[in-house]
Amino acid sequence: MKLIITESQIKAKVKSLGKRISRDYEGRELFIVGVMKGSLMFLMDLVRHIDIPVSYDFMAISSYGAATKSSGVVRILKDLDMPVESQHVLVVEDIIDSGLTLHYLVNNLRTRNIATLKVCTLLDRPYRREVDVKVDYNGFVINDDFVVGYGLDFNQKYRNMRDIYALE
Ligand code: IMP
Ligand code: MG
Repeated sequence: MKLIITESQIKAKVKSLGKRISRDYEGRELFIVGVMKGSLMFLMDLVRHIDIPVSYDFMAISSYGAATKSSGVVRILKDLDMPVESQHVLVVEDIIDSGLTLHYLVNNLRTRNIATLKVCTLLDRPYRREVDVKVDYNGFVINDDFVVGYGLDFNQKYRNMRDIYALE
């Protein structure tokens, strides 16, 4: 495994994202939708750097088809506990690759009469997009390496590592 982003780089980035989000949403309340399970660690750190009123809930989704590649055909395994109607929603993801998962989620949330919708991701591979999705906040742009740690897994493992590594 090769170290690509250190714990202290993550900490600094999460702090600055939290500040930016707090500034952008000043005077409003924010409703964060975390995409399980990869984004949980990021979300828990991020909300502690947000100083406006915030609520959060989680969605769990699973894509049909090959495990290594996102098919875009997505199934909701866990939905939000409560309606998000008229809320300012921020979707928090661990990583966006083809964009197919996020595209499905964004379209789904848009049918719920929310006030605004933005997207925040820790990691991004923008050149891999197969569908156009708008990402409002991104932490780090990374290359093709499959990455693990800080919530991201390979076969459910390595989520607990504090730095982010490329699997070799
Ligand atoms: P997309 O639908 O192609 O954008 O895939 C996004 C999802 O695939 C993410 O939410 C992750 O769950 C997973 N994923 C993509 N790349 C990686 C990686 O390098 N490590 C771990 N999970 C990944
Ligand atoms: Mg994910």
